[in-house]
Amino acid sequence: MKPDETFIPLADLQAIEDICISIVNRDGEYICYSKGCEIIDGYQKTDVLGQTPSAVFSKSDRIGQSKSLIEETLNTGKTIKNYLNSYQTTHGKKITALCNTYPIFDAAAQLNYVICTYREVTDYLNMISVINKQQLELKEAKGLDLANGTQYTFSSIIGESPALQNAIYQSEVAAATLEPVLLCGETGTGKELFAQSIHNASTRSGHHFVAINCASIPDNLLESTLFGTVKGSFTGALNTRGLFEEAKGSTLFLDEINSMDIKLQAKLLRVLETGTFRKVGSTEEMCCDVRIISAINEDPFVLIKNNQLRSDLYYRLAVFTINIPPLRNRGGDIQVLATHFLNTMAPMLGKKITQLSPEAIHLFNQYAWPGNIRELRHILHQSICLSKNDDLVLNTKTLPDHLYHSPISPALALSNVSDASLKTALDAYERNLIHAMLVKNQFNVSKTAQQLEISRQSLHYKINKYQLLREDGQ
Ligand SMILES: Nc1ncnc2c1ncn2[C@@H]1O[C@H](COP(=O)(O)OP(=O)(O)OP(=O)(O)O)[C@@H](O)[C@H]1O
Ligand SMILES: [Mg+2]
Repeated sequence: MKPDETFIPLADLQAIEDICISIVNRDGEYICYSKGCEIIDGYQKTDVLGQTPSAVFSKSDRIGQSKSLIEETLNTGKTIKNYLNSYQTTHGKKITALCNTYPIFDAAAQLNYVICTYREVTDYLNMISVINKQQLELKEAKGLDLANGTQYTFSSIIGESPALQNAIYQSEVAAATLEPVLLCGETGTGKELFAQSIHNASTRSGHHFVAINCASIPDNLLESTLFGTVKGSFTGALNTRGLFEEAKGSTLFLDEINSMDIKLQAKLLRVLETGTFRKVGSTEEMCCDVRIISAINEDPFVLIKNNQLRSDLYYRLAVFTINIPPLRNRGGDIQVLATHFLNTMAPMLGKKITQLSPEAIHLFNQYAWPGNIRELRHILHQSICLSKNDDLVLNTKTLPDHLYHSPISPALALSNVSDASLKTALDAYERNLIHAMLVKNQFNVSKTAQQLEISRQSLHYKINKYQLLREDGQ
C-alpha cells in the first residue's frame, strides 16, 4: 500500500452502506470494502482491507466459470460486466454473485484503482422473479387494458375494512349501469383506481378509458379540450376532436371537476341534459354517447355552498355517489396495505423486509394519514430504501419524524374509547401521544420527558398508569 493512501471510509456513508462495493488499488490491495460486502461474504472489513483478493477469496466450482475478476481487470484494464462468478472465503463460505469490475485511470492513463460491485445471485433472482410476476399481473390486468388504457380492476383495490368493501360494492352496482358516478374522497384515497375499475367492470370496458384532470388545464383551454374546435373558431383554431368525441361509446373520467370554471359547468350540465354537444365555434349538434365518472376531493356540499360546484350539475353527476373512505377510517387496512406494499416493493429494491414491527404498527395506527394511501406508499418506499439488506422487519428508525409530530386526529384518539367522556377521551389521547414519543425515542424516558416538557417522575407515573411497556417487555 502507498504510504499516503488511506482507506476510503465508505461505510460511513449511510446511503450506500448496504451496497456491495469494494475497491483495490493498483497493487491489488483492498482499500474499500462496504458493509454490503461484509454481509454477503461474512468477513469484517478489517479482515480484508490491505489484503489482495487471492489472499481472502479462492475459486469455487459451484456454478459457471470461477475467476478473479479484479485481478483480470487489473491486468487488462478492461471492464467486466454482469459476470456470474463463484468464489469462497477462507472460512469456506461459498458465494455465487453477479459481479462487475471497473478500471479507474488517472490523468496519465495509468490504472489506479479497480472498483468491484456485486449482488448475491439469490437476491438478484428474487428481484427478477418479482419483476416478472408483477409484469404478468400487469399484463393480466391489461387483458382489459393495453387495449383500453387502464391498469386497475376491482381486484387491484387492496383493503378489507367494511368502509372500503362498501365503497367497492356500491361501485360494482354502479358499474352494471351506465349512470353517472361521482367519486368523493380525499387526496390519495384511490379515486383513480375506482374510476378505472368501474369502467373495466362495465359493458364499455372494450373501449378506451378517457381521463382528464380538470385542474391541470387552463380554464380557457378546457372547453376546447372537452368538446373540440372547428377551424377558424378563434385565431389559430383548427379542426380538433374533443374528449367527448374521443370517448364515444366509452367512459370519460372528469377528475377534480370542482376546479372547472362555473360557466363551463353550466355548459357541461346542458350536455348531460340534452345528450348533445357542440364543438367550439360550431353550430352543429353532436350526439354525446359517453358515460361520465367524475371525482372531487372535498365535501360536495361545502363546494356547493362556496359556489365552486353548481348544485344542479352535482345532482346530474351524482346519480351514484361513492364515498371513498380516508385511510384513518379504514382500521386494519393500514396494516394490510402496508404489508402489501412491503411485499411488492422490498424485493424490487433488493431488500428482504416483509413485516412491520409492533411499534411501527402502533405508530401507523395513530397517525392521521392526510395523504392517505399515496402517503403510506411513499413512506414505505423511503423506509425500505433506508433499511439494511438483511433487515426482515421494518424498523421505526427508518420512518420519517413527522409521523410522531403530526397531530393525532381526534377521531383516532377516540377510536378505542367506548365511553366518550371528556376525561376518557383525554386519557386516550395522552396515552397515544406518550406511546408514540416513547417508541420514537426507543423508550428513553429522559429524552421523552424532555420532549413532552414534563418531569421524568411524571412520565414514569404515566407509563405505569397506561402500562406502556416495550414490546419486548423491558
Ligand atoms: N385500495 C388500494 N389498494 C392499493 N393501492 C391503492 C389503493 N388505493 C390507492 N392506492 C394507491 O395509492 C396511490 C393513489 O391513488 P389514486 O391516484 O387513485 O388516488 P386519488 O384519490 O386519485 O388521489 P388524488 O385526489 O390526489 O388524485 C396510487 O399509487 C394507487 O395505486
Ligand atoms: Mg386522482
